[in-house]
This record gives sequence, structure tokens and C-alpha cells, in this order.
Amino acid sequence: AISQLYDQHGRPLEYLRLAVTDRCNLRCFYCMPEQGIRYLPKQQLLSYEEMLRLTSLLAGLGVRKVRLTGGEPFVRRDLMGFIEQLAVQPNLTDISLTTNGVLTAPHVPALARLGVKAVNLSLDTLDRERFFRITRRDELPPVLDTLHALLETDIQVKINAVVMDGQNIDDLVPLAELSRELPIDVRFIEEMPFNGGSHAATPDLLPWNHRRIRQHLEQHFGALTPLPAPLGATASDYEIAGHRGRVGIIAAYSRTFCGTCNRLRLTAEGGLKTCLYDQGVLDVRALLRGGASDEEITIALANAFRYRAANGFEAEQQRPLHQLNFESMATIGG
Ligand code: GTP
Ligand code: 5AD
Ligand code: SF4
Repeated sequence: AISQLYDQHGRPLEYLRLAVTDRCNLRCFYCMPEQGIRYLPKQQLLSYEEMLRLTSLLAGLGVRKVRLTGGEPFVRRDLMGFIEQLAVQPNLTDISLTTNGVLTAPHVPALARLGVKAVNLSLDTLDRERFFRITRRDELPPVLDTLHALLETDIQVKINAVVMDGQNIDDLVPLAELSRELPIDVRFIEEMPFNGGSHAATPDLLPWNHRRIRQHLEQHFGALTPLPAPLGATASDYEIAGHRGRVGIIAAYSRTFCGTCNRLRLTAEGGLKTCLYDQGVLDVRALLRGGASDEEITIALANAFRYRAANGFEAEQQRPLHQLNFESMATIGG
């Protein structure tokens, strides 16, 4: 039977972010160091079979939306075969992906056929040289191919641009301009310190917070009109007069949206996180591989969600600085 699970603060469980790999073919400096991160050995990653078992159990607890993340999802072998199986699971009404777009374009028609609802494309600049500086790879052309391929389908498209002081501020207006003619959301994200290195910023020292990003856009476009946001959304969306698409601002570091957070995360190695900032509250892989029954796993998942912290970031801040979490976004799954 399907039930809807709520946590102790009254927030529903609706959305699973599933990292299918920790590997990536780019090296975005806000995410990982040049040499990459220490990748997990294959057998430590959840298999597709294990993931499908989990998504089906989570669907029984109310999850309707699964977003595949990474690393870069398309770096994992036979991702399309996995999506094909995920797409036919009952009760999952929204299968979406977050991708950097380097390998995605050839798969776009098949994604559309499988009914994938939305693709969020990471794209921080439209300038090839700055793209290289930010990602340390010269891969802008295939990413733009992915954007164009997506626009041929009815998959919803959102562009995710991380706002980086001194790096891509001149790109914000050109990126937002894409929403003039294209029916897409262009979303600007506060940079978080998940770069696989060390970094001692706190949200109040963030040079480009959501307010400043909005002011910057308004200087060029005039007033941004706030649009109603679905519960649990990360982005505040805005209309710009005369634009077909929209712009959004994600206060990822200021975390203005924790109060309605509806999500769980599974890392590529099967760690369950009830918040982007917690260290993993349950070793799901150990449960799976230790022979736990469906019922045992379901109870463990439900308990982990039910008793999650009101605000995982604040809990994190209570820890001494040397224990703070500067892991790479690629191991967390965004
Ligand atoms: P939609 O499903 O389209 O709303 O996407 P999303 O915003 O949930 O996910 P996406 O993968 O596009 O992530 C966009 C940005 O939001 C990334 O920088 C994520 O790290 C950040 N983000 C997503 N979920 C959370 C969260 O629970 N907390 C925080 N602080 N940031 C998050
Ligand atoms: N801060 C904010 N967003 C980040 N992402 C990766 N690293 C960071 C960071 N340090 C974004 C990617 C992708 C999404 C899943 O997370 O650009 O769009
Ligand atoms: Fe790869 Fe995404 Fe990290 Fe960039 S942000 S290195 S594309 S995982």
C-alpha cells in the first residue's frame, strides 16, 4: 500500500535524489580539485538492481519524483538501460536528471520517448574560454548540442548556473537572456563550499548571495516578478516581462528553503542523507548486501526520514571547524 510519510517537523517525503556515480568528465573548480576526487571502486557503488529495489520501496513511502545525479550520470555504463527500467516502475510520476550535458545529446530523443520529465543542465557560461577555466575541460560545444537537442523535445529544461565571484558575473545577463526566446528556466545558484578541498566561508561572507544576484539581474532587466513556487522547491522563480522562459535564484547556501524540504538523497555508494549537509545517516548498501528484507529496509528508511533534523546545516555548524564537511558535490550528488 502507498502511504505518505512525514518527518517529525511535518515535511513530506516526495523526492529522491539518486547519485548513480561519483565520477565526472568535468572538473568544475567549485566541485572538485584538478586531479579529481578519490573515486569509489566499482563494487562499492550500488548496482542498478539495488537502486531499483530502493526506488520501489521508497515509492511505497510516498516518493513520486526521482532525480538522477552524480558525478555525471552519463559517465556510468548503460545509464539508459537503467532509466528504461526506472521509467516503468509504478507510482514514480517524475523521473528527471541533472547532467553537465557533455555526453547527453545523443540520448535526448530516447529520454523523451521514456517520458523523462525534466533535465537540469549545468551551464555556468556561454563563453568557451570561461567554460574551460571553470570546468578545466574544453567541452562547451557538446553541452550546447545537448541544450539544442532538448529544445526539440517536450522535456522541461532548466539551466543551472553557479554564481562565482570573479569568474562568471559577466555571464549572468547573457545566460538570463536565453529565457527571452526559449521556454526554459535559467537558474542562478549560490556557490556552496563543496569543492573537495578546504574553504572556510560562511553564508554571511558569501559575496554573491540570492539578494545580490536578484539586484544584479534587475539592474539589467528591470523588476523581476516573483512567481508562486511549488512546496519543496529550491528555486525562487521570476518572470521577466516579455520573456518566454523564466529565471530562478537558488539560495543554496543561505538555505531559504529548508522549511519545506521534501527530499532524501542516496549517494553513489548507498549512503542515505536526510540533508545535503549531514554525513549520511544510514548505510543502505550494508542493509541491502546483508540480506535485509524489503520490510526491514523500508522501516529503516522511514525511521531515518522521520527523525531528521529540522535544519541539517545548523547541526553541521555546531561541529568543530576541522570536522566540517568539504567533500565534493560529486560524492554527495548535488
Ligand atoms: P528541481 O527538481 O528542478 O527543482 O531541481 P533541484 O533544484 O531540486 O535540483 P538540481 O539538481 O537542479 O540542483 C540545483 C541546485 O540546488 C544545486 O546546486 C543543488 O546542490 C542545490 N540543492 C538541491 N537540493 C538542495 C538541498 O536540499 N539543500 C541545498 N542547500 N541545496 C540543494
Ligand atoms: N555550489 C553550488 N552548486 C553546485 N553544484 C556543484 N557544486 C556546487 C557548489 N559548490 C551544482 C552543479 C549542478 C548541481 C547538481 O549542483 O552545477 O548543476
Ligand atoms: Fe562534474 Fe557536476 Fe562536479 Fe562539474 S559540478 S565536476 S559537472 S559533478
